[in-house]
Amino acid sequence: TLGGYADFMAKEIAEQPEAIERLLSGRLGEKGILLDELKMTEEELAAVDRIYLIACGTSYHVGLIARTLIQTWAKVPVICDYASEFNYEQDVLVTDHTLCVIITQSGETADTLAAARKMHGMGAKVFAVTNVLGSTAARESDGVLYVQAGPEVCVASTKAYTAQMVACALFALRLAQSHGVMSAEEVATHYQDLKAIPDAIREVISRSWQDKQAAAVFRSATSALFLGRGVNATTAYEGALKLKEVSYLHAEAYPAGEMKHGPIALLEPGFPVVAIVPADRVHDKTVSNIQEVNARGAVCVAVATDGDESVASLCEHVLWIPPVADELLVPIVAVVHLQILARYVARTRGCDVDKPRNLAKSVTVE
Ligand code: M6R
Repeated sequence: TLGGYADFMAKEIAEQPEAIERLLSGRLGEKGILLDELKMTEEELAAVDRIYLIACGTSYHVGLIARTLIQTWAKVPVICDYASEFNYEQDVLVTDHTLCVIITQSGETADTLAAARKMHGMGAKVFAVTNVLGSTAARESDGVLYVQAGPEVCVASTKAYTAQMVACALFALRLAQSHGVMSAEEVATHYQDLKAIPDAIREVISRSWQDKQAAAVFRSATSALFLGRGVNATTAYEGALKLKEVSYLHAEAYPAGEMKHGPIALLEPGFPVVAIVPADRVHDKTVSNIQEVNARGAVCVAVATDGDESVASLCEHVLWIPPVADELLVPIVAVVHLQILARYVARTRGCDVDKPRNLAKSVTVE
């Protein structure tokens, strides 16, 4: 039931902090990160030399973030692919110690299940990150990590996205541990950083009025451009997908540095651009992109870190996020503004946010 919320999208956005707390609870033991669900021995985990992350849609965006976390923390090479592409590729390279991780909220996405079967056929172990107990993905995999986000009813995925990112972060830490590339102290520090995420999300949700105000920029727009760098290029992809799904407004997303290689031609006075520009290594580069946006009279809505005057002075609206200790975890917090923004834009345009046209909650045909 809606329990007082106007729609499931609003309810599920609000449920994110608790979902993540549930997932993180009791995951740090004496020997480090506890992920017994993996059903892999220490030796098997330590031997993993390549990982394929396979998923569709929003879950694919989780895969992009997971790739960065695994490569940065565990130093294991990762290939991330859309299941619908992967299934027809002939260049899949499976070693004796390749692990396939499928990421699927519903556990029923046909392309993703087909990818898992293909990998099993090639001799790889398959591990599923899913939200649905007893789903086909769970039943057919060698190990399952349930993200425990609770039923997600709204077709547009919100709480499963953030919970799946956290699940993959735990997996990356577990792998780093077994590969001997991270000290127990470092693991504990990353775990504490993850534990701080729910409160940061609560803070973002308490600032929904910022998204409501910014939604006015999109009321009569016909298109929007999302920009971000590094891990937040993925936040841009997910923000654009959310906006398209629920508001039917055309949106595309690019790594910010790619704007000058083509998309900049779209800019004209009033054109809405959403820039994800938190306080991180690439901040100043993205600020330069915002200046280019402004020079063409386009309207910039930014997601930025509290107190960032350099962004505030350039943008029509700023969706503020509190500081996040580890910049690789910012996507889990920043995306919440984009979920809320998409919902407000959809509502101002009269769309049914829970049941967008042409879409089903799980896509069970290949
Ligand atoms: O259940 P899955 O995670 O396998 O679903 C994959 C996509 O169909 C799904 O994420 C879709 O993109 C959502 N509607 C996005 O909000």
